[in-house]
Amino acid sequence: MNETDFIPKPYLNHIESGDFTWSSPSNIALVKYWGKKQDQIPENPSISFTLDYCKTTTKLSFSKKENKEAFSFDVFLDNEKKDDFKPKIETFFKRIEIYLPFLKDFHFKIETSNSFPHSSGIASSASGMSALALCLMSIEKEFVENISDEFFIQKASFLARLGSGSACRSLEGDLVVWGKHDEIDGSSDLFGVKYPFEVHQSFKNYHDTILLVDKGEKQVSSSVGHNLMYGHPFAQQRFEQANKNLSSIKSILKSGDLNAFIGLVESEALTLHAMMMTSMPYFILMKPNTLEIINKIWSFRESTGSKVCFTLDAGANVHVLYPENEAVSVLKFIKNELVIFCQKGEYINDKIGFGAQLIKVE
Ligand code: PMV
Repeated sequence: MNETDFIPKPYLNHIESGDFTWSSPSNIALVKYWGKKQDQIPENPSISFTLDYCKTTTKLSFSKKENKEAFSFDVFLDNEKKDDFKPKIETFFKRIEIYLPFLKDFHFKIETSNSFPHSSGIASSASGMSALALCLMSIEKEFVENISDEFFIQKASFLARLGSGSACRSLEGDLVVWGKHDEIDGSSDLFGVKYPFEVHQSFKNYHDTILLVDKGEKQVSSSVGHNLMYGHPFAQQRFEQANKNLSSIKSILKSGDLNAFIGLVESEALTLHAMMMTSMPYFILMKPNTLEIINKIWSFRESTGSKVCFTLDAGANVHVLYPENEAVSVLKFIKNELVIFCQKGEYINDKIGFGAQLIKVE
């Protein structure tokens, strides 16, 4: 597949109005994407667990308009008009217009809500952009009736990527790869694909408790962070390392070697933050409590033999990952020893999920 395969033939059907609602989950990367080329092409492949509880639900209503010169849309978060979201969506529409030529024909109302609190420090861009991309694909399906399910998801992921890179990994579950890798069949820089190989029972139903260490706005956005990988002194080594880690995780996921999984996942998280700390200008997104939690997890593992581990995204919150058979003991540990490091004691219990869902068919 290449970009031009996503440009549709002239539409034959006519549509006046309607609405679609999709919910789409967040995801947490095990091998991280950090650094991109033009048009949201990743510098290295990544793999993520799709989440279950943390998700965005978006209703997209559309009605035909007269003036076809410009985009026209309103955005609402929890029923409140959000004009500050508009520039990001306008940029998204501009990028995808060539792939969805109907965008200027309609006025859109985008009504969105998140299952997690808005000010939780959890990025809603992956779940938000993938939910919106799916709603747009549902409209395209009205124009082109014979779109296959496979193409529908592929193109939705392709479009979501153009909204926010990691969003392309949020459509399916439970493991999704994005970025071309020689040893992963079907992998592509253009969209996410379901991890195509055998996965050991130990990784089924994996848990992710998200400790909300800092619920404020990030000081450095991920787009600024990605850009700082241009000319970064360790960039090439990092991209090579991510490729190698993707090869390694294949055998780890197959064998269920949880010790190797811990080593790879924690190293990826710390490497991501090391890239931030060694960018120019440098920055730190971890907070003192992030480190307190990491140290507590290490001592808990040391004293109990638990297979709990952590990962981080581009922020201070800690994702605590653990297998299903340790759910009771790790949750007890979290409540007894980690919750004190969370802002207002807040955390979210999540686990691996299986992707987006169409909520309402018009
Ligand atoms: O999709 P973006 O541009 O918000 O970048 C996401 C980057 C990380 O969350 C840090 C890593 C990843 O692969 O999700």
